[in-house]
Formats: sequence, structure tokens, C-alpha cells
Amino acid sequence: MAYQISSFPLNTGANIPSLGLGTWQATEGLLTNAIPAALKIGYRHIDCSPVYGNEKEIGSVLKKLFEEGVVKREDLWITSKLWCTDHAPEDVPKALDRTLKDLQLDYLDLYLIHWPVRMKHGSTDFFDPENLVTPDIPSTWRAMEALFDSGKARAIGVSNFTMKKLGDLLEVARVPPSVNQVECHPSWQQDKLREYCKSKGVHLSGYSPLGSFGTTFMFKGGDVLENPILKEIGDKVGKTPAQVALRWGLQMGHSVLPKSTSESRIKENFDIFDWSIPDDLFAKFSEFHQERVIKGEFFVNENYVYRTVEEFWDGET
Ligand code: A2P
Repeated sequence: MAYQISSFPLNTGANIPSLGLGTWQATEGLLTNAIPAALKIGYRHIDCSPVYGNEKEIGSVLKKLFEEGVVKREDLWITSKLWCTDHAPEDVPKALDRTLKDLQLDYLDLYLIHWPVRMKHGSTDFFDPENLVTPDIPSTWRAMEALFDSGKARAIGVSNFTMKKLGDLLEVARVPPSVNQVECHPSWQQDKLREYCKSKGVHLSGYSPLGSFGTTFMFKGGDVLENPILKEIGDKVGKTPAQVALRWGLQMGHSVLPKSTSESRIKENFDIFDWSIPDDLFAKFSEFHQERVIKGEFFVNENYVYRTVEEFWDGET
């Protein structure tokens, strides 16, 4: 039976739209057309980060769309993230103010700690291990809580947190995180983390829901979309592998954030609401080989608090 899953409730009482437009690796200039196209198609959620280098562009596009009356601010869900160089409590509010200035907004719907990794303030070379600093998540989180109190961030959360790190944070949080945004797609299903998040009232949001197909920068993207099971299911339900991968996410109960700057693929990725994958085909997802695409090697160093990729992910699979 087909059913609508257009949003998921958060522990703040707000509803996060279940489909968001990812903006990582959106080449400069392309969002100027992609965002209006997406909003026209019906997207209401945009996932941003200052480290993607395009928040100013997004801000200009949004301003124009608000002025033209195409969409109202209150009808949109805008997420952004605190980059690793701004974890010091005194830098957290400044980082949010910069993002708000660039996006030309006065509040975010959701602000996330991007990675459980701290880097020297002002450093720009992510690959230089000299820039890695031991994180102090409780103190960064207290600064995030102040942003929540101020209303500038209407929900706060984390990204790339394991069960261990989320559990540690929940022990000390006055305002519990609303969201943990992590890699999630049929080839990295996050079953244990999803269950854990659910038990703690934290919504799981899936980035790289198409396996970061096409990525060559920093790591090689996965070939999730080429998996024959997606094609087989797609052929049976009359949908593309990308639509099947995204619909799987919605039926698992998490929001999905596919990135595209192509109008036709933005449209394709929106057609995931009024149909569903039947139970017999859904069972086939258990056959997917499981492997992370984004391993986080760039945050691992023998002299750092995370010496190996296993340590970084707390040995969780
Ligand atoms: P493009 O922006 O040219 O559409 P992810 O969200 O998992 O990181 O995947 C994003 C990658 O997948 C981008 O390379 C994007 O390219 C591509 N992509 C987005 N939507 C689709 C689709 N429906 N079919 C195939 N590739 C897609």
C-alpha cells in the first residue's frame, strides 16, 4: 500500500521534511538554478554547511525567492552545520552568525555539529594532521544549547556521531540532540544506530542516500546505484534505482538528503511519496553488502585521539 511520509517529528515538536536537497559538491553557480527548480517541484528542505563553500550563493537565491513571493521563510526547513574549526565555545555563536549572514536568514531550523572532530581555529587544510585538536564535545554542546535558547537555532543536533558518542553526549546534554545526520543508504543501512537513535528520541537523517555516486574528491563514491537489486526492484515497481534507494530510506523511517544540481534528477528524486516498496521486495535489502563509503580517514592520525578508522567509529558497524 502506498503511503505518504512527508515529514518526521523531532523531539522539539517540529516536523522535519523527509526529503531535503543536499548541497555538498554543488559546483559554484549551479544552485542558482537548482534551488528555484527544487522549490518549484515541492522541496522544502535544504541541507547546507559553510564548508561546502556555497552558503552565500544559497542566501542570494533564497532572498530573491522570498522577495518574489515564491516561498515564505516559515515554509522552509534550513539546516546548517558547525565546522570543526569552530568547536571552541566562544567560536560557536560567531560561526552561526556567519552562516546566518551568508544565508541571509535570522534563524536556522537545525544546526548540527558537523563532525566529532576539532581543528585549530582558522585552519583551512583539513588534511594536515597538525591542525587536529582533541574535541571537547560537552563544552561545544553547551554553546550549541545557548544558540537553541536564543532561538537562532530552532533545533540542534550532531552529524557523524556513533552510538558511543551520542550516548556520551546524551549523558551531559541539557537540551538533547534532535538529529544525528549520518551516511545512510542501502549499502550502509545503519540498523543498530537507527534503533539506538529511535530509542533515544533522536531522528536519524541520511546523507549520501545515493552512495555519493560520482564523488571523486576526498574519497571514491560508492556504486550503490549500480547494485542490481535496486534495478530489479525498480523494474518491478516502475521506478529508477535512485528512487528505490530514497524510498527505502523513507520506509525505514529516516529523512533523506540527495544532492543534485540537475533539474531532471531533482524532479526524479522527488517522486518518492505516493508509492511504496512492497514487503516481499523490501526484504531484498537484507542482501546488500554493507560498507561505509565515507570512512573518515582524513580525521585519523596516529598522534590524534582517533588513531584508526575503527577507533573513529568506536568499532561500530
Ligand atoms: P547530479 O548533481 O549531477 O545529479 P549523494 O546525494 O548520495 O551524495 O549523491 C549525489 C550524486 O548522485 C551526485 O553526483 C549527483 O549528480 C548524483 N545523482 C543525484 N540524483 C541522481 C539520480 N536520480 N540518478 C543518478 N545520479 C544522481
